[in-house]
Formats: sequence, C-alpha cells, structure tokens
Amino acid sequence: MSHANSPHPRASFTRGALTGTIRVPGDKSISHRAMMFGAMARGRTTVSGLLEGEDVLATGRAMQALGATVKKDGDLWQIDGVGVGGFLEPEAPLDFGNAGTGVRLCMGLVGTYPFITRFVGDASLSKRPMGRVLDPLRAVGVEVVEHNENRLPIALRGPKTPLPIDYRVPMASAQVKSCVLLAGLVVPGETRVVEPVMTRDHTEKMLAGFGAEIAIATDDDGARTITVQGLPDLVGQELQVPGDPSSAGFPLVAALIVPGSEVTIENVLMNPTRTGLIETLIEMGGDIAIENRRNSGGEDLADLRVKHSALKGVTVPAARAPSMIDEYPVLAVAAAYAQGRTEMPGIEELRVKESDRLAAVARGLEANGVVCEEGADYLIIEGKGGVAGGGKVETHLDHRIAMSFLVMGLAADRPVTVDDDAMIATSFPSFIGDFTRLGAGFSQEGEAA
Ligand code: S3P
Repeated sequence: MSHANSPHPRASFTRGALTGTIRVPGDKSISHRAMMFGAMARGRTTVSGLLEGEDVLATGRAMQALGATVKKDGDLWQIDGVGVGGFLEPEAPLDFGNAGTGVRLCMGLVGTYPFITRFVGDASLSKRPMGRVLDPLRAVGVEVVEHNENRLPIALRGPKTPLPIDYRVPMASAQVKSCVLLAGLVVPGETRVVEPVMTRDHTEKMLAGFGAEIAIATDDDGARTITVQGLPDLVGQELQVPGDPSSAGFPLVAALIVPGSEVTIENVLMNPTRTGLIETLIEMGGDIAIENRRNSGGEDLADLRVKHSALKGVTVPAARAPSMIDEYPVLAVAAAYAQGRTEMPGIEELRVKESDRLAAVARGLEANGVVCEEGADYLIIEGKGGVAGGGKVETHLDHRIAMSFLVMGLAADRPVTVDDDAMIATSFPSFIGDFTRLGAGFSQEGEAA
C-alpha cells in the first residue's frame, strides 16, 4: 500500500466551535461480519450502510478469493455466498492489510478447510499476536503450516476430520470468541466457547440471524457459554449496518472539548457491549443527549446531541474495558481536557491493537504537554482543563491514534501534528471532510496553520 512508503503528516488546530450534524460510517465490526457471513451463506446477502474503509474492503477481496461474489450496486453491497463448507482454495495469499478483525475471524472461517490458506497483512498487522487464534484452531486439528513466531505470514491447512472443541477464551477478545465460533460452523457437532467477560456480541447475533443454531447461557459471575451447532444451513440476509460507535467517539469528544460546540451524531449503534465511552463521558460531566432511540435489524440505535462541557476526571472501572476497548485513545483526549485525574485500569489489551496504544497515547500526550503515567496495564492522566499542544505524534500505522490526536488539536493552544493520516481510511475515510464541515481546522505539512 502506498501509505507505507509515503507518510502523510497532518495538523489540526483551533478554528472555533464545531456545529452541525454528522453521520459516522457503518460499524466496522458488523461490516466485516456482513462480508464474511454473506460469503459463507447460501444465496444473496444485501448490505446497506457498509463501512467502505480499507479494512472491510480487504475482507471483501478475501471473500472473493474464496469463491464468493462481492459487488456494489448503487448504495447496496451484494454478496453471493457459497454455502457452509463451500469455500474454494484461494490461489494467492489473502491480504488483510491493517485489519486484525479481518484476519483473525477469517482464520476461523476457512482455517478448518482441507486446503492451504495463506494470510498476510501490513507492517502493523504482521506484528500482532495470532497465537490467541492459532491455539484453539490447533485444538480443532488445524495444521499451522507456516508462521513467524505465531505472527503473519501464516498458512493454515484444515484436518480431514476437524473436532468440535470446548474453549475458554483466556483474554477479553471478541475476535478470539468469533474465530472459534466460525470454525465450529464447519465442524460436525457442538462447539462451545466460554468468555469470562462479555465482549461485543455481533458474531452470535448475526449468525443467529443467518440461521445458525446458537445457544447462550450466562452464569452468576457473568461468564457466557456460547454453543454453536456445526454444519448449519445459513441463508443470505438483508442487512443494515448502523453507524460505528467507535467512530462516533471522535466527534463526541471533539464537541465536548471545543468551546461553543453543539453537534448531532446520527444513527449510532447503541449495543450495550459498545457504549462504555458514552457512559464514561456522561460520568465526566459530558452533556450528551441520547435521542430518538430505536431498534433496527435487532440492534439499538440512537442519535447523540453533544454540547461543549466542563469535564472532570473519573476512574473508569476495569470491567467496562471490553465495551469501550477501542475508545481509550479518544477518552485520553477528553481526560486531558478535564479537570483532575482520570484513571484507566485493566487496559493491557491496548498493547496488542493496531499499535501498542497504551504507549502511543502516553507518548502523544507527553509530546503535547499533558502529564500522564503509563503502567503495564493502566494509564493515569492529570487533566488541567486544557492542552498546550505543539507536539508531533507518532501514529505507528494506527488509525485511532491519528484521529484521537487530530481531535486533541482542535482545542489546543498550539496545533497538534500526527506523522501520518493515511491509515484513517481503514475505518473512517470521510473523517477530514466531515470534521472540516463541522468547523474543524486541519492543515497538511508545509501549510500555515
Ligand atoms: C473487534 C474486537 C476487538 C476490537 C476490534 C474489533 C471485533 O478486538 O478491538 O477493533 O470486531 O470483534 P479484540 O477481540 O482483540 O478485543
């Protein structure tokens, strides 16, 4: 990809209040799954509101390489699937670019097939741990033909007789849970996954919608056991992808920190496994009105009306981490503008995202005059009600680091620069244009801010 060779720095600066309405792109998690489940199901799946970001498009290309037909007709994506068990051996490695969700779920989706599938990705994805999905796949009988210390590039070959497994996910990870469930679809018998804490439940919900037999039991400690029956007949569906609450986090925090702002964010997914950031920002004193609550396609949706607010520091309960795991970078920005200390415990999973987000956030804050303490699994931020800015932030090929610090610059004393904004296209291709329309100030290197 060209962005790997030619970094594209960008700065953000204070231009005034942010006002207006924004519709964030479709949810990334649901969009990946729409592509994959549509490709696996029999018949046609149509998808409206799909996130047309690089990550999801890479998944779409992988589905084509496995024999599905993926095309766009007007505003609708159409996926003609192969039926459970019907994927074909791909001729070339499947390239997932920057996308952890794409590659980890797809390893479950095709890893059990009795042919070799190769998986590759960009520099960021190639550093990320894949042992967490290889371990359960090995238990199913999948042979890991190639790997680089459990990292990409990886080649998998499924066994002649795959085994249904009982797997307890050792960390809070929807990707690992999903990988095992997807592998279970092509294994005769019952596959069971236990997750000690609930993570996003899109795989369970959507698979049930496609016709899979899924049973879920929750014990007194909140641990969930999800049982899937192998070899179901999955049938194409009509899907509507709601707005991504993780992407909504950027205009949400931007409106809270820029004086005078009032922004409405429309059509945001309000699935309770995804709303931890909203809950936390309200606790911090954020003026966020949740309006027009509705249900569509089995998911809760709402519009969010957000006004500039004086924020105060809080302690974010560790148990809330799975419901806002991708939102900590932008929460850190809100915390820097709050008065007082914000503590974020239990966030060790941030170290294995598109970058080591704990370290990347801490360095970015420090570069812009914000005092923070980075622990092995926590971050503490001393909010002073404002940010000096003036720093250059290393994004490490991480879209959310880029967007979070561009948001920070919108209310800082001096501009904030990120070393590369190209990765934003993985999840929020319209970010710069949408924010400019709301009144945000951006410049590229060499331009006067
Ligand atoms: C995702 C799960 C989370 C999240 C990622 C999307 C998913 O990853 O960070 O952006 O769609 O299942 P983990 O499973 O590694 O927590």
